[in-house]
Amino acid sequence: MEIVVLPDPDSVARLSAALVADAVRGKAEPVLGLATGSSPLGTYRELRRLVESGALDLSRASGFALDEYVGIPEDHPQSYAAVIRSEVVEPLGMDPARVRVPDGRADDLERACREYEEAIAAAGGVDVQILGVGANGHIGFNEPTSSFGSRTRIKTLAERTRADNARFFDSPDEVPTHCLTQGLATILAARRVVLVAQGAAKATAIGQIVEGPVSARWPGSILQHHPAATVVVDEAAAAELELADYYRFVWEHKPSWQRVEPLPA
Ligand code: GLP
Repeated sequence: MEIVVLPDPDSVARLSAALVADAVRGKAEPVLGLATGSSPLGTYRELRRLVESGALDLSRASGFALDEYVGIPEDHPQSYAAVIRSEVVEPLGMDPARVRVPDGRADDLERACREYEEAIAAAGGVDVQILGVGANGHIGFNEPTSSFGSRTRIKTLAERTRADNARFFDSPDEVPTHCLTQGLATILAARRVVLVAQGAAKATAIGQIVEGPVSARWPGSILQHHPAATVVVDEAAAAELELADYYRFVWEHKPSWQRVEPLPA
């Protein structure tokens, strides 16, 4: 796992976008794993700048969202289908026909999950998975105690997650209780992973997933097993990293031939 500690959220956005662009460079039909939530919004903003400058073309890219609420109407502004459309597909010039979100309204949810996994496999797997992390260490909606062997499936949202996401709804009761989410094994199969976190509210989760034991109690800790995962955090989110100075030293001394430079401000 590579950990990069940067001064502020803007720097996190510029480096994470550069890492994503680097992972898809030269691929005619790249496959992106897409996260919702506020964490990756800066990454999408910087990717949009690249697309608009002509340096990146995602018109033939496919995308697979991590998760979706169960039972929420697709046109509800907080459905992840709607969020992915407005925050990712439209700004990044992606083809909506190539971007999928788990179908949380399907009559047969188990079948929808199976078909989602089949679609990812048919696309050739995910080239780069963009991730945020929940305050409880979840990635996607893989709440604590999720199986490391899990694939796309239905999950019950943790109380903490429902409370954290209540800000997007008119009332806390409106937050759905269930979701469909790619599993931890699905996420681990991506060829490259870029996780971003900003702010003090994520400091404990980052400390645990980066330096704690690999444990389903903090599901993101499974990324310690990924061969090419980079965790990009700002100073506030790095506050509980015991080895933060070492990570800064590693980043400063990274050989030039291995470096991906942050996008210019
Ligand atoms: C959400 C999503 C996750 C996201 C996390 C953190 O509910 N399902 O994919 O990474 O929780 O959200 P935020 O980035 O808004 O802090």
